[in-house]
Amino acid sequence: MANPFTLGVASGEPLPDGVILWTRLATSPTHADPARPGGMPPRAVPVSWQLAEDERFSTIVREGTAQALPAWAHSVHVRVDGLRPGADYYYRFRAGSELSPAGRTRTADDPAATRPVRFAVASCQRYEHGYYTALRHLAAERPDVVFHVGDYIYESRQADVAVRRLGSAGAAATLHAYRNRYARYKTDPDLRAAHAAAPWVPTWDDHEVLNNYRGDGDGSAAFLRRRAAAYQAYYEHQPLRVRPRDGGLRMYRRRSYGSVADFLVLDARQHRDGTAMLGAAQEQWLTARLRESPVTWRILVQPLFFSRRFVPGPPPNLRADSWDGHQAERDRIVAAAGPSGLVVFSGDVHNAWAGDLKADFLDPGSATVGAEFVASGITSRPPVTDSEAVLAANPHLRFFDGRRGYLSGTAGPAELRVAFRAVDFADRPDAPIRTVTEFVGEPNRLTFENASSK
Ligand SMILES: [Fe+2]
Repeated sequence: MANPFTLGVASGEPLPDGVILWTRLATSPTHADPARPGGMPPRAVPVSWQLAEDERFSTIVREGTAQALPAWAHSVHVRVDGLRPGADYYYRFRAGSELSPAGRTRTADDPAATRPVRFAVASCQRYEHGYYTALRHLAAERPDVVFHVGDYIYESRQADVAVRRLGSAGAAATLHAYRNRYARYKTDPDLRAAHAAAPWVPTWDDHEVLNNYRGDGDGSAAFLRRRAAAYQAYYEHQPLRVRPRDGGLRMYRRRSYGSVADFLVLDARQHRDGTAMLGAAQEQWLTARLRESPVTWRILVQPLFFSRRFVPGPPPNLRADSWDGHQAERDRIVAAAGPSGLVVFSGDVHNAWAGDLKADFLDPGSATVGAEFVASGITSRPPVTDSEAVLAANPHLRFFDGRRGYLSGTAGPAELRVAFRAVDFADRPDAPIRTVTEFVGEPNRLTFENASSK
């Protein structure tokens, strides 16, 4: 067998005692034959794995063998538990005589721990729009955990503005096409490096399925088949704890780090209907956790711009697809967080923004109840934005940057810091990284100060 580890390795879903280890065997990543995804034979292939305390694998703490099944495109999701909290581990796979690259992962902190958690937030990485240099820099930071807030792939193709060739025709709509789209993205060494550097906790936005889709789409059997195919391919390429079932995939979940931070990861697409962004069950789950959570920082991890963003000019001035189309639901979430407030991380808009969350966005004098930080995206091209006009029309919005990049943060018992990291260009390789600015907030003073400007 030729090298089957062309798509790299990954880990994710860290708990205090365990993680998920992932790989997918593919000797030929974007193989044309749907009956042989990844160029693999249509039979189970045993994959052995090892987890060690050290990079040289001299102290193995767990090992085993998983079956890579053709029904799941020869992906494996190994659930490892019984590990120490807040600890680094290293892992690798073997299939036949081929050894995978090694990955580094880390368990979450013990519930009583007060150690600061170091995290990154990435989003929006259209392959043909540029190079994943920002992800290479993210990997070098080796955070405790990486959150991805969606548009990991784009189902469509934009050949007219291509910096690099996607190499496949048209929009993905079948399981085979979605699989090959993920495989194509994962041929990028910087994306593989970012997965190998830290455990990921991803959520999705719309482009993992179809631009601006909501819930059941048009309700047709054809759309539900397409969505089920997209969700299956998503699962097959991410280190998730749960499998798709009956055409759905449970994505909303909490990932906790000690007594310091609860990351409440949301699904803003699957459960949408005509009126609700999250759907009743998810909203109830979220507001209950916001009310009960005793930790220092309650952090929403989700794709869409959360604060009001009025765009001056011809209507529509508010974006219906985002939280501005769901104002009552937004108010209920802010109310559930109460006086201890919340922090929101989002993406989707392909520019970096930061601002205060207001008890009433229409009243600049109302209480500040937290902050939102919007990751600009790894490569996806931004829309033309008159940022000065938007900032002037929305006094709670306080920062804009139009470069590609990601967020790098630390949440501790005394403060939460969020750095906007950016590359000056993504249309050619090897851009250096810079910190554009950094915001710092304290638990009982929810106005975040702009700490630096370079
Ligand atoms: Fe996007």
